[in-house]
Amino acid sequence: MKYAELGLVNTQNTFESALRGGFAVPAFNAYNMETIQAIVSAARLTHSPVIIAISESALKYMGENMLIGIIAGTRIDQHERIALHLDHGSSVESCMRAINIGFSSVMLDFSKRDLIENINATANIVRYAHARDISVEAELGELAGFEDENTFGTKSTYTDPDIAKQFVADAHPDSLAIAIGTSHGAYKRKSADEKLRFDILEQIQEQIPNTPLVLHGASTVPTDLVDDINKFGGKIQNAMGIDIEQLKFAATKTHICKINIDSDLRLAATAAIRRDMNIHPENFNPREYMDASRDAIRDMCIFLIREVFRSYNKI
Ligand code: G3H
Ligand code: 13P
Ligand code: ZN
Repeated sequence: MKYAELGLVNTQNTFESALRGGFAVPAFNAYNMETIQAIVSAARLTHSPVIIAISESALKYMGENMLIGIIAGTRIDQHERIALHLDHGSSVESCMRAINIGFSSVMLDFSKRDLIENINATANIVRYAHARDISVEAELGELAGFEDENTFGTKSTYTDPDIAKQFVADAHPDSLAIAIGTSHGAYKRKSADEKLRFDILEQIQEQIPNTPLVLHGASTVPTDLVDDINKFGGKIQNAMGIDIEQLKFAATKTHICKINIDSDLRLAATAAIRRDMNIHPENFNPREYMDASRDAIRDMCIFLIREVFRSYNKI
């Protein structure tokens, strides 16, 4: 299926507006009907462009036909500027397969491979994708977290600005995911003093001023949600996310055009389900707590769109 038949768009025009317009496009991870409905209704209520991000494991969980069926059933219109994006594609074949079933954007994540392999594989999928009007995101540097301060050394995990320049010149991705101190999951920092490396971001921007940049591992991990989860029987200790003011700065004052959020939506969903089950212990109708979780995911997306990414009214 061609993505345009599903009402989807690629990320090209949206990233151009984001690069000039002081906002970032949210990429929210989805894995079932409820998450897709929540993300799309948040986009519709805020008139925000969004990227529905599907990891390979989420795709396996849903099944390709089910995913495309849900997207078709959502009746997306191209004017809504919604992209369907493969998150962390692990091979060129996996990206090609996503392209052929209806994705409008793919990420090839060869960040843990050596540089030449990353360049060659990215250039390969870029050729295939561009012939079909699909956007490609690549990644350089590793999201190892804040504890590694060994910048640019042999064990460096941050993105090296000079290598970023070479990479973009050789591989031509439409956007580049960079490592400046974020990491996946709910345990990103040990203390509030640990900050993102905006100095490295600035050097990257100087080297590749026209490339839209992507921030993975950007969840804020709200303490009220973690507290609620723990209050109602969960066990999440020492969780800490990205500082919200730093994230707002990244979204509005830098070349970061796409910000990936998964953990915040997982926390919102889990807190809502635990809360609902606790308040209504007699209930055994899953629709009730699934409905509460869908609303909570939608509200988390709306909060981030309005207060952090500033992408509302940007379609
Ligand atoms: O970047 C990773 C995302 O959070 C997806 O995680 O593979 O568990 O779906 P997942
Ligand atoms: P979080 O775990 O911070 O939400 O990151 C999500 C992500 O980067 C998905 O690609
Ligand atoms: Zn990621």
